[in-house]
Amino acid sequence: MRPLQVSASILSADFARLGEEVQAVDAAGADVIHLDAMDGAFVPNLTFGAVLVKALRPVTDKPFDVHAMVADPGRFVEPFAQAGAQLLTVHVEACVHLQRVLAQIREAGMRAGVAVNPATPVDFLEYLLDDLDHVLLMTVNPGFSGQRFLPAVMAKVRRVRELVAGRPIDIGVDGGVAPQTAPACREAGANVLIAATAIFGQSDYARAIADLRG
Ligand code: DX5
Ligand code: ZN
Repeated sequence: MRPLQVSASILSADFARLGEEVQAVDAAGADVIHLDAMDGAFVPNLTFGAVLVKALRPVTDKPFDVHAMVADPGRFVEPFAQAGAQLLTVHVEACVHLQRVLAQIREAGMRAGVAVNPATPVDFLEYLLDDLDHVLLMTVNPGFSGQRFLPAVMAKVRRVRELVAGRPIDIGVDGGVAPQTAPACREAGANVLIAATAIFGQSDYARAIADLRG
């Protein structure tokens, strides 16, 4: 299994001081910065796109993981690559031609991720194992930070861990990941813990990140 990583989701950061917040979680030991791009159509919330990713790129050397909660995300592969993202994760529910989009992401020089909503089965991944670097299992319905973790998703984490056996594919969990829920995620086989509230909602970011590692 690939090493455990904590990815700080900036959705709960202070947006008036976003650069400083990214630097603070970098210094506090976050392995990855998770950036939630939402379009108000695929999810009922609107955040930001490649312009903001590009603006933040100079403030840290940590990898940027862009989680695209947008309809037809193939339209934004180039802009996010140009903005400096290392990983682009698109939703299976938002792509008609998922394999094509994953190939485009790698061609643009990024690692390719697929995100899966709580109610979506994971068996389609069997046909994409050569095209994938990251599987993101949503443990809430995407759109907002601060929602309640859905424990039923742990069965899918276990299933995906079996599917990716022997391959260098990360398994991430996103939504309601906190010190109380992270152990179940790790035990089921997730190695990337993505958290907004459990980090930015605490005063001591270093302690918060260490608590997620367990
Ligand atoms: C939700 C986003 C998450 C969100 C997590 O749609 O994809 O990354 O920021 O927030 P918490 O950790 O507060 O559940
Ligand atoms: Zn996310």
